[in-house]
Amino acid sequence: MFDSEIGRRRTFAIISHPDAGKTTLTEKLLLYGGAIHVAGAVKSNKIKKTATSDWMEIEKQRGISVATSVMGFEYRDYKINILDTPGHQDFAEDTFRTLTAVDSVIIVIDAAKGVETQTRRLMEVCRMRKTPVMVFVNKMDREGKDPFDLLDEIEQELKISVRPLSWPINIGAKFKGVYNIYRQTLDLYTPNKQTISESFKLTDPLNTEFDVLQQYVGEQDADKLRQDLELINGVYADFDVNDYLKGDLAPVFFGSALNTFGVKELLDCFVEIAPSPRPVESLERKVVPTEPAFTGFVFKIHANMDPNHRSCIAFVKICSGKFERNVYYHHVRLGKDMRFSAPTAFMAQKKETVDEAYAGDIVGLPDTGNFKIGDTLTAGEILHFKGLPSFSPEMFKYIENADPMKQKQLEKGIHQLMDEGVAQLFVNQATGRKIIGTVGQLQFEVIQYRLEHEYQAKCRWEPISLYKACWMETDDERELDNFKKRKAQYMAYDKEGRDVFLADSQYVLNMAQQDFQHIKFHFTSEF
Ligand code: G4P
Repeated sequence: MFDSEIGRRRTFAIISHPDAGKTTLTEKLLLYGGAIHVAGAVKSNKIKKTATSDWMEIEKQRGISVATSVMGFEYRDYKINILDTPGHQDFAEDTFRTLTAVDSVIIVIDAAKGVETQTRRLMEVCRMRKTPVMVFVNKMDREGKDPFDLLDEIEQELKISVRPLSWPINIGAKFKGVYNIYRQTLDLYTPNKQTISESFKLTDPLNTEFDVLQQYVGEQDADKLRQDLELINGVYADFDVNDYLKGDLAPVFFGSALNTFGVKELLDCFVEIAPSPRPVESLERKVVPTEPAFTGFVFKIHANMDPNHRSCIAFVKICSGKFERNVYYHHVRLGKDMRFSAPTAFMAQKKETVDEAYAGDIVGLPDTGNFKIGDTLTAGEILHFKGLPSFSPEMFKYIENADPMKQKQLEKGIHQLMDEGVAQLFVNQATGRKIIGTVGQLQFEVIQYRLEHEYQAKCRWEPISLYKACWMETDDERELDNFKKRKAQYMAYDKEGRDVFLADSQYVLNMAQQDFQHIKFHFTSEF
């Protein structure tokens, strides 16, 4: 019973470049799970493009994002957990962390635009973690690129082998449907935005039923499909699910999320082949999901919108065992036992109190400042989960106090916001000045706003020109000491007290690499 509970869980994230159709696809998956009944019900974490400079608007939208952070639903015999990721690229760090809590990923690609920047960056995280990925090529109802070209582009840009498991018959205005290679059926396209419609099925359209196929799609398209499939079988090896599970091969599906087409095929294949919760590495040992004792880690902290109550929800991914309400668990970093009387689970778009949850699930724990990103909770064992690296920020600014009377509040605010993972703090080792690193400009605005409203502190930003933060690895401590002396004014501590080299240009970094060959420079804190 316990093992099968875990075996039927599928915890994943959908990632895409903004506007490729992530929200629409999420919504259609929820429709199939019966979690919502009409399209248009999902608001998601998406922050509309128009709001980039309007922080109040973002604050409003953030309100709905707790509920949609995790969407759980039942489909066939499976329990599905979709972890939502913010659409706005300035919150990419949040997305990186969410990817540490999933067991697989679905990538949505716009058929007209192909692989776009944000998808490429997020895929790097998946590749690093060997996360199995499946690709959904969306918007086939619009004019787009040739599907073979798209497959090549995905292979090259995302640096992963692909294997189409469905194949489109035309695209855009002439789009007639897909041949489902995985099930060997023909699914004819009927545009349908609001409800779920079963597509028309043929079981052997390429051989015994070829004449029927011709009747449905016309002679020309039937011939073209047959040729395409021959080519696919010639070029791509047969689909091997183990290659997918190892993160080496991405199955590809084609469809139109808006028209609820190709979504069920994707979902049916997904639940069958996507991994159930996978083992998780800790510093001490590998933790297997079916171990009876509960373990989990905090991958996201969501602050309350109400400035008068500094309460948060800590999102915990359960790595093993069963989590129970009101049972004492060990908070490893604080070395204390805690119990939770109102843990929440996320079903559809509702947050509700749960009595128990299993490995693979996410529980939300109401918190008033006990948790930091990366904290481990266990049934007593001392464990530290790995795999929540910091990534080098893209933008850096000095943060200065703008109200001398509020120094303490500012300190507290900065530290709590960093624990929540809003941005990264580096402290210059020579001067003690604080530098905040972010992925985008918006995060600076978020920090300034929240410091004022939640901590009554005022900050001021001062420019600093930096290229990347580098974490260092070496076997040669003397060389590292030399390096640190030579670069003293560019050395900083990160929030864990680790040495970080703040390189001010690519050139400086290249020179450092040349001069100090026994030091490896990494753009992430775990390597
Ligand atoms: P995102 O979360 O990845 O940012 O994308 P989202 O689902 O919001 O989709 C972006 C736009 O693309 C939306 O249009 C959506 O309706 C459209 N779209 C999604 N899937 C398909 C599809 O299969 N075919 C076509 N033709 N369009 C699709 P919008 O006008 O920006 O938003 P809305 O006003 O429709 O909400």
